[in-house]
Amino acid sequence: MRGRFEEPLDPVVARFNSSIGFDWELLPYDLIGSRAHVRMLGQVGIISPSEMAQLVAGLDQIEQAWRTGEFQPDPAWEDVHSAVETRLTVLLGDVGKKLHTARSRNDQVATDLRLYTRDHIQRLLNLLQQLQAVLVTLAEAHQTTLIPAYTHLQRAQPVSLAHHWLAYFEMFDRDRTRLVDCNRRLDVSPLGSGALAGTTLPIDRAYTAELLGFARPSANSLDAVSDRDYVVELLSALSLILTHLSRLSEELILWSSQEFGFISLTDSCATGSSLMPQKKNPDVPELIRGKTGRVFGHLLGMLTTLKGLPLAYNKDLQEDKEALFDAVRTSEDCLRVMAVFLEKGMVIRTERLAQAVTEDYSNATDAADYLVRQGIPFREAYQVIGALVRTALADGKLLQDLTLTEWQAAHPGFSEDIYAAIQPAQVVNARNSYGGTGLAQVRQALLAARARLAL
Ligand code: ARG
Repeated sequence: MRGRFEEPLDPVVARFNSSIGFDWELLPYDLIGSRAHVRMLGQVGIISPSEMAQLVAGLDQIEQAWRTGEFQPDPAWEDVHSAVETRLTVLLGDVGKKLHTARSRNDQVATDLRLYTRDHIQRLLNLLQQLQAVLVTLAEAHQTTLIPAYTHLQRAQPVSLAHHWLAYFEMFDRDRTRLVDCNRRLDVSPLGSGALAGTTLPIDRAYTAELLGFARPSANSLDAVSDRDYVVELLSALSLILTHLSRLSEELILWSSQEFGFISLTDSCATGSSLMPQKKNPDVPELIRGKTGRVFGHLLGMLTTLKGLPLAYNKDLQEDKEALFDAVRTSEDCLRVMAVFLEKGMVIRTERLAQAVTEDYSNATDAADYLVRQGIPFREAYQVIGALVRTALADGKLLQDLTLTEWQAAHPGFSEDIYAAIQPAQVVNARNSYGGTGLAQVRQALLAARARLAL
């Protein structure tokens, strides 16, 4: 491809310029794009039917060689696109040189990257769905398991553990919609945009778009070869997926600590310390939390790469691949391993949870609501219970330990049934407002979650 050049590329420059070390990942997509391109060239008569058949067969053969592992990247090559073209020419002779008719690597790489992104969005959607299924299964098993819930990381009110798992279900559900949305906008075919301005040859862009399963050809050739918005959109969606995974990880790490003790780690998903014989560490959630920063970094890196680029293609765009591939790989790994961890990496310590929900003042709101049900203004009830909590704390007692005389001294509205009203199970179950943690609500939410999963 050295056309006008008299000297070979300096080896240091060649290595710096080459993308073969990472764009090999595009090979299957490059072959899909090339097959569609060649079919179109044959269809419109730019190449003969026999040339088309030979080129398609050659591309199939390259795919075969790649699948068996015989076709491997050579670090001396420039990129995956020229590697395929060179191989095809070795296979077919001069016919191979027709592959690149009416095409530039600029529209080619833009096409490949969209095909890659579309494919991985599907994989990510499946992984999200699998993780959600694990969460729903956990939630189904723990509808009546109660757990302290927090604001400011201070005990607030107990909830059904199912409600907690379903909170993450919602986050991952939004993540799925973001991926679907990203896919909707990337659904155009840049193929046929040429280097930047289109082509003089009578190509049929609608036909290649159709062959590739894109909704339509892109409308502006300059934009088509330089647009990487969908990379940013996917990196942004991945950043939120990792944010959700990282928040879940943080909770699992806290819960596995001796201070919380809500879960214990199983041997299959935890590691020890090389020095401290007693240790068992939550490496899986810690690594997920750690990898989140890496995905954020790729998002910011990509935005920065794009912000100063004049139209149209610039070599800076070659930097899109490592960022995207690493973020996708990392996110897919994290989704997969989180599902494994939730399924077999932890044992929920229900005895500890049952104790935890009875050892604090998280039923105080319910004592106030008890008075509210008798017509006492909430702010007044709030003051009454606040004072009770203060004296109970001073006496080293919990609300449920107070005698009826003490309750009635605080407010004459209390009678014997206050004790039932502040039982943890009642505290949870009474929150029957839509979207709340009451068991009837949780049961409805589970049904709705199962239905959404089936979509
Ligand atoms: N390796 C290049 C990339 O990843 C392919 C496109 C090259 N185009 C060019 N005009 N040099 O962006």
